[in-house]
Amino acid sequence: MKDEIVEMLNEDLAGEHAAIIQYLVHAYAMGEGETACEIEAIAREEMRHFDWLAETIVGLGGVPTILRGAMRTGGDSVAEWMSNDVQQEIDAVKLYEEQIKAIGDRKIKRLLRRILSDEESHRGSFEHFVEKAKRKGAKDLRGTRSDKTTKILNWGIEHEYTVILQYLLQSYLTTNEEAKEELQDQAINEMQHLGWLSEEMVGSGGSPRIEHTEVDQSRKTADMLRADIKVEKEVAAEYDRAAGELDDPGLKTLLIRIRDHERYHADVFGDLLNEEGKD
Ligand SMILES: [Fe+2]
Ligand SMILES: [Fe+2]
Ligand SMILES: [Fe+2]
Repeated sequence: MKDEIVEMLNEDLAGEHAAIIQYLVHAYAMGEGETACEIEAIAREEMRHFDWLAETIVGLGGVPTILRGAMRTGGDSVAEWMSNDVQQEIDAVKLYEEQIKAIGDRKIKRLLRRILSDEESHRGSFEHFVEKAKRKGAKDLRGTRSDKTTKILNWGIEHEYTVILQYLLQSYLTTNEEAKEELQDQAINEMQHLGWLSEEMVGSGGSPRIEHTEVDQSRKTADMLRADIKVEKEVAAEYDRAAGELDDPGLKTLLIRIRDHERYHADVFGDLLNEEGKD
């Protein structure tokens, strides 16, 4: 039964993952309006679900999946996107309701009920956004720009998404409490980077593509940290190089700020690795 529950929760995790990215893509594409902020807030609630589910999976002796479930990213208008988001929530509600019936464990049932009530509320919010988008004619602000700038932004987005997944997975798998806390902290910082770069992309006439590259699968904390230090050093150098190549002063400043964060991350992980080596 334990394995079956892990399997079910991993299916939920993949669904939460898909919802997070689907909603973020929609929020970024809508620019800085009120609805976009509300959608981002919903995405943040899905991140909390993701976190609770992953911790529960680890508690059951399982490994949280970083696979992403099916997303609904089509649609020609904001109203259609919002309908897609309604549908995503309807699917989630259905899945959680089935699992609540199938699972006997009191604590897990309670957690799923808690998540379910959020999803029901999200469904209502997205239904409201459909109507609002129809009334106000909200626009897709993304463009088709494709040049050096959008290439750099897309590279950054891909990198940030990859390390978000990597640090979250590592934070669930490590047994080093200090590393766990730092990994979660840096993952949140990388989420900020992802948001900044995506908003910059939309603002400058491009279209963010949120896909990731290979995520480190180490199981030993020291190996995780070595992989993290390597990637942080590489990307700090790359952000530094890219900032030097671009003329837009705002974008330059942004990339330098991110570069400095990445250097900080490399230092933090370096200290943790030194500590880890002493045990
Ligand atoms: Fe959720
Ligand atoms: Fe970053
Ligand atoms: Fe970083």
